[in-house]
Amino acid sequence: MAKQARIVVDRDFKIAEVDPRIYGSFVEQLGRAVYDGLYQPGNPLSDEEGFRKDVIEMVRELNVPVIRYPGGNFVSGYRWEDGIGPLADRPKRLDLAWKSIETNEVGIHEFASWTKKAGADLMMAVNLGTRGIEEACALLEYCNHPGGTALSDLRSRHGRKEPFDIKMWCLGNEMDGDWQIGHKTMEEYGRLAAETARAMKMIDPSIELVSCGSSYRGMPTFPEWDAVTLEHTYDHADYISLHQYYDNEADDPADYLAKADDMDEYIRTVVAVCDYVKAKKRGRKTINLSFDEWNVWFHSKEQDDKLNKERPWQQAPPLLEDIYTFEDAVLVGEMLITLLNHADRVKVACLAQLVNVIAPVMTEKNGGKAWKQTIFYPFFHASAYGRGTALRAEVCCEKHDTSEHEDVTDIVSAAVYKEESKELTLFVVNRNIEEDVELTADLRGMGNCRLLEHIVLECGDRKCTNGPGQERVRPCNVSRSSADQGILQSLLRRMSWNVIRLKLES
Ligand code: AHR
Repeated sequence: MAKQARIVVDRDFKIAEVDPRIYGSFVEQLGRAVYDGLYQPGNPLSDEEGFRKDVIEMVRELNVPVIRYPGGNFVSGYRWEDGIGPLADRPKRLDLAWKSIETNEVGIHEFASWTKKAGADLMMAVNLGTRGIEEACALLEYCNHPGGTALSDLRSRHGRKEPFDIKMWCLGNEMDGDWQIGHKTMEEYGRLAAETARAMKMIDPSIELVSCGSSYRGMPTFPEWDAVTLEHTYDHADYISLHQYYDNEADDPADYLAKADDMDEYIRTVVAVCDYVKAKKRGRKTINLSFDEWNVWFHSKEQDDKLNKERPWQQAPPLLEDIYTFEDAVLVGEMLITLLNHADRVKVACLAQLVNVIAPVMTEKNGGKAWKQTIFYPFFHASAYGRGTALRAEVCCEKHDTSEHEDVTDIVSAAVYKEESKELTLFVVNRNIEEDVELTADLRGMGNCRLLEHIVLECGDRKCTNGPGQERVRPCNVSRSSADQGILQSLLRRMSWNVIRLKLES
């Protein structure tokens, strides 16, 4: 007999409205993300500005509301002024973060135009590595001030009279990491970020600011860094950042799929830190979470080390070009479920990244159309059907232990209800790598529901990948669910991503 699992979803047990910005993404001036990725002048697939139309189409499919830019590690050595003005005058620079040459052909104007075409807003990061308050303020004035000052008038002269009106700003990137150019101690960063934030809000009080949290949960200074820096930035910042990438270097699929539990624990800890600082400050404001880098990243690391060692200082080198497997897509699905289950505090999240660099969308080096990686699909489903009210999905199922994790539930799930269309979507991953699970979902207070569809991403070969013109891993609809009188019955294949969509009839 197959394993059994039960989920209870009650219409009145709400987590929060899902902030659509949790379906954000990230583009860094790194590798072939911008050049040879979204920007390829001269390619027949590009538009008059040099932007790949097929890439824009795929990004639009993902419906990404906000895109973080221009880094990442890159931003900590970036001079934003290099990317404005006539193309012929833009300098080529060494990018120390990625040992590459940055041509600055794409800067703030071009990227803002691309994000608009992609249907997204810009989320900008300022350089707090090699630079400070003055340059951050100058960039903000250039971007958001209406006019009548040297910098805002310079923007007009460069063809953009209306302000870019960028609402979200990151106060540096991963400033705790010793790989970061100009990395800092907690006190150094806390003071600099607080004063930068204070000045930036004087220029434009409508902006929202993200204070740098730890670079990942495994940092030796986590969570002290988060607490100490937030004590400095609390009055001026609105969010704290979290970053996390997972890998399956051990090639242990059961343990790999348990890693979403670490992400859950990470979020809980950072929420506790934010609330501790709030209490300590006797504050009224709640600091929320911007999980502005998350994904799987490991496939390309060896190749990148080799490239950096043997052929540094190239323009647009093929760095961080992870080719994702089916099992990676399942973990990405679990990470999305985790974000949804913390919709009360995670208000922004960025899948890192978007094009070519650890990305759902890839372009080929020598022509050919863009193609979709395996991880494209869970993100696409969550972004399409995961908007509305996140409801608590109470899961009761068997648990298993893995090499590094205990009490791992066989299934994980999130539920989102959309009032306008009366649609309820259950996202469910069966992370048992050997056994199918029969699911019974008690949809309390939902009345009678009609099954719209049961979409799955599944594959006999967990290492299966996609490639140019080859979509081996793609979703399909299955007849493994039925709904009657508020009870849903489904069969969840071992190691699978499931999207079960229902329509409320009453
Ligand atoms: O996304 C790739 C890199 O990962 C980013 O530049 C950095 O912020 C993180 O360490």
